[in-house]
Amino acid sequence: MTDSFLTISGFRKTFGSIVAVEDVSLNIPKGEFLTFLGPSGSGKSTTLYAVAGFDDPSAGDISIDGRSILATPPHKRNIGMVFQRYTLFPHLPVGENIAFPLRVRGHSAADIAKTVKAMLSLVRLEGFEDRLPAQLSGGQQQRVALARALAYDPPVLLMDEPLSALDKKLREEIQVEIRRIHQETGVTILYVTHDQEEALRLSDRIAVFNHGRIEQVGSGEDLYARPATRFVAGFIGDSNFLKVREVERRGSAASAILPDGTRIENIPAHAGNGHAATPELMVRPQSLKFVQGSGAGLAVKVKDVTFLGDTSSVLLETGWGQEIWLRGAGSAVKTNALSGPLHVEWNPADSHLFC
Ligand SMILES: Nc1ncnc2c1ncn2[C@@H]1O[C@H](COP(=O)(O)OP(=O)(O)O)[C@@H](O)[C@H]1O
Ligand SMILES: [Mg+2]
Repeated sequence: MTDSFLTISGFRKTFGSIVAVEDVSLNIPKGEFLTFLGPSGSGKSTTLYAVAGFDDPSAGDISIDGRSILATPPHKRNIGMVFQRYTLFPHLPVGENIAFPLRVRGHSAADIAKTVKAMLSLVRLEGFEDRLPAQLSGGQQQRVALARALAYDPPVLLMDEPLSALDKKLREEIQVEIRRIHQETGVTILYVTHDQEEALRLSDRIAVFNHGRIEQVGSGEDLYARPATRFVAGFIGDSNFLKVREVERRGSAASAILPDGTRIENIPAHAGNGHAATPELMVRPQSLKFVQGSGAGLAVKVKDVTFLGDTSSVLLETGWGQEIWLRGAGSAVKTNALSGPLHVEWNPADSHLFC
């Protein structure tokens, strides 16, 4: 499983004086669904386009099955691609759009007819052969683009924000389709998005991009439970970053003293997060609990309660005036009990110290 099929090593890309990608290395096993997640401008597309061959790296290598593909022109790399904007040929009907890469490769008419049918069935658009792209919805057009990209059975499929032009409901529908197609075909997918929910829903692993570097690679669960950096902690899931007055390290654990003097003991000390300017303690809203009785925990005031159906979100203010969120099951957050001075607590093992 750890065998790398698609390997990116020391990839760097500059445009004049602009550094688009500082240094990216990744080992991607065959059949993996790996997502590049990160804010706009963090280098996701630049890295993807280098794999596609649209642009040469300034440094580094990209290989498939142990062989560098840098000298191979894009059309010979055998890599499927789906972009954000619709890239279907507007004057060609759906069937011909899907047939196009097969015609270019000189497949027989019988083979093309058979493949077009199979691809339309794969993306659930049976019977749409003769429609023109303009007669399809945005979601249907992206399905055709997906069918066309997969028609010649490429071992690698690249997708650059393919759903970002669609509304939320349609996006979620096609996410389910993309997952199914990945499972059915076993194609290795590199997928770009800036939407963490989409990344979590689709991916086997996620590479979190920031300023032209990968901050962490792991399953959604890894990134959520064990964020390696403050950036990852803030980007995946909801988080509170409590101010910290003082940190005491003791081997593999640490204590944090909050601005009001509250001491939090036994925080697991992470390796490699030693570059925050000011120390902060991250704790997820759903890890916070109200303390029954009084005394222990962090003193807070309730500022607002939002009922969200299954859960409620409570906006709290700490003694030093910082706003933090608590999220709990609707039944555990009884609005009428939320008055007077309250205390919250959490399992220190569920908090992360960035210092
Ligand atoms: N052709 C180019 N010329 C100059 N700068 C570019 C070019 N392509 C990308 N960049 C810059 O490189 C950085 C990374 O871009 P990109 O990879 O497109 O980010 P992302 O896909 O994560 O939004 C950005 O600052 C962007 O402006
Ligand atoms: Mg991009």
